[in-house]
Amino acid sequence: MGQGKFIVLEGLDGAGTTTQLEKLAGKVRALGMPVLTTREPSDGPLGLLLRQALSGRLSLPAGRGPLSAETLALMFAADRMDHLHAKVRPALDGGTVVICDRYVLSSLAYQGATVPMEWVNELNREALAPDLTLFIEVDAETAATRRQLRGAPAELFEEDGLQRRIAAQYRRAIRLRGGSEKIVRVSGAEGIEAVTEACWAHVEALLHKRAKR
Ligand code: TYD
Repeated sequence: MGQGKFIVLEGLDGAGTTTQLEKLAGKVRALGMPVLTTREPSDGPLGLLLRQALSGRLSLPAGRGPLSAETLALMFAADRMDHLHAKVRPALDGGTVVICDRYVLSSLAYQGATVPMEWVNELNREALAPDLTLFIEVDAETAATRRQLRGAPAELFEEDGLQRRIAAQYRRAIRLRGGSEKIVRVSGAEGIEAVTEACWAHVEALLHKRAKR
């Protein structure tokens, strides 16, 4: 059995990565290949801490507000290494296709909006490079409208001005990493099915490359 492929979905909050993750996983499964869907923050112990920090349950003492951006950057990087060792690598080694909702680019775009991106990149130096990253591109306004429709309580990074800055940081992050790993930008402005088809063309090409080897 060969090594599985590692595929990552990225985008602003409201870009639709979670919807596309399930659609793509269904299509891989239909080819008869084993597939694992996962996400970051992970569902491991460090990921649970991060989700508490994002929802405001975990914060600085004496009402001094959220954890610092540096603390969060370190926690996201630590969660990522734990996620790789606990879940992603074992699945890839067993020949499973792993599709992950958010990964290093999220750290570069989100934490890189408030701390130097180069430092965040360095923290993530040992993180396994994905075989393919699909960046689902929507403008900050579209993403905001979709978040409102979803109706869930706003999390730490979901303020509109910050999302516009994160959108710009994603473009910088893609320039930073796009030279050494495969990152594809897909327009997320079309309907769900059209976005799935656009993503699938790239996933299918990657999986066929594997099958031919
Ligand atoms: P999200 O993926 O949208 O999950 P949910 O739909 O359960 O809220 O939430 C994760 C948030 O964490 C999102 O705002 C992006 C942020 N994030 C970072 O800031 N850095 C990271 O490295 C990762 C993986 C996520």
